[in-house]
Amino acid sequence: MSTTLQNDLLIRAALSQQTERPPVWMMRQAGRFMPEYWEIKNKYSFLEMCKTPEIAADVTMLPVDLLGIDAAILFSDILVTAEAMGGDLSFEQGVGPRFSNPVRSAADAERLSTDCLHKLQYVADAIKVIQQRLNGSIPLIGFAGAPFTILSYLVEGGSSKDFKLTKLLLNNEPQLAHRILQKIADVTVDYLNMQIEAGVNAVQLFDSWALALSWNDYQEFSHQYNKYILSRINRTVPVISFCKGSSVFAPIMAEANPDVISVDWNSDLKNIKKTLPEGIAVQGNLDPFVLYAEKRVIKDKILQLFERMRGENGFIFNLGHGIMPDIPFDNVKYAIDLVKEFRY
Ligand code: CP3
Repeated sequence: MSTTLQNDLLIRAALSQQTERPPVWMMRQAGRFMPEYWEIKNKYSFLEMCKTPEIAADVTMLPVDLLGIDAAILFSDILVTAEAMGGDLSFEQGVGPRFSNPVRSAADAERLSTDCLHKLQYVADAIKVIQQRLNGSIPLIGFAGAPFTILSYLVEGGSSKDFKLTKLLLNNEPQLAHRILQKIADVTVDYLNMQIEAGVNAVQLFDSWALALSWNDYQEFSHQYNKYILSRINRTVPVISFCKGSSVFAPIMAEANPDVISVDWNSDLKNIKKTLPEGIAVQGNLDPFVLYAEKRVIKDKILQLFERMRGENGFIFNLGHGIMPDIPFDNVKYAIDLVKEFRY
């Protein structure tokens, strides 16, 4: 696949091959910080946007056309798998995701379907439309949520600050938690394979809330399932493993054998890379809050990171987590242009 791309920097960096500069893309690059996103969002609900391939493609292309990034990411959400399994999902303005039927009992868990790939066909359709639009210019990244992070939304019924109900389940009813996690993991294998089959050039597994877990619980309730997924998906495209908490969990994440570990902003990226086995690339790890600052600060912090990573193969420039909706567009563009000027 990579040989047919005009710009395959991301693929080469993900495979720890030599690149002339680090590729750059940003988590949540297709979103609310762009006025052009609002022009579309004002006409449709978020889920309508995800489920209409032409609209999902339009939004996916916004950062490609307006920011000139080195990789596109499918416009969708990690929670669509949970919806396909039976979660009654809605996104309310200012509230975020909601499940009106949280999963908290054995009976709730029983009701979750694993035979639901057909409900996600719109994602495969969107991938095909996006690949036509990209026309071999840059790679398209597909993605899914990791079982623990998805479980947390299903149990809490939405976003949570402390994951109290999720942790209660893990502590009091670990067997029930494992049954649900296994169901999500099985759906995620099918779902990522469907995306790979439909033509994505890389995939990222988002375990956004792993940082809530202790060292032991991370292994039991998160890592084990991510490893299961990575060992069962069709490894014909590079796999990026993201978690908030990666500064602590990177050595465990490496045991799942991803091509790339996407690192939060708490650690020194070069030091993290040194601790990883040869051949695992890193992605990250600018604190997204830097993008609110004055341009001279943005420049300093990006140069600092670049100087640290100079000469390393296997470095993808990204943020430690997603772009916030009120970060000035101009600052995001400035940061991306700056990275594109680098030469190793
Ligand atoms: O990165 C991209 O640009 C591609 C699209 C994408 C979205 N969500 C679009 C989105 C991706 C990769 C995601 C992943 C996602 N979704 C994660 C993992 C990444 C992370 O940030 O940790 C998580 C935890 C979610 C769950 C989710 N979706 C939340 C908590 C929210 C509401 C809070 C928020 O940030 O808005 C969403 C909604 C969502 N997903 C929006 C977008 C563009 C906003 C929808 C709107 O316009 O109101």
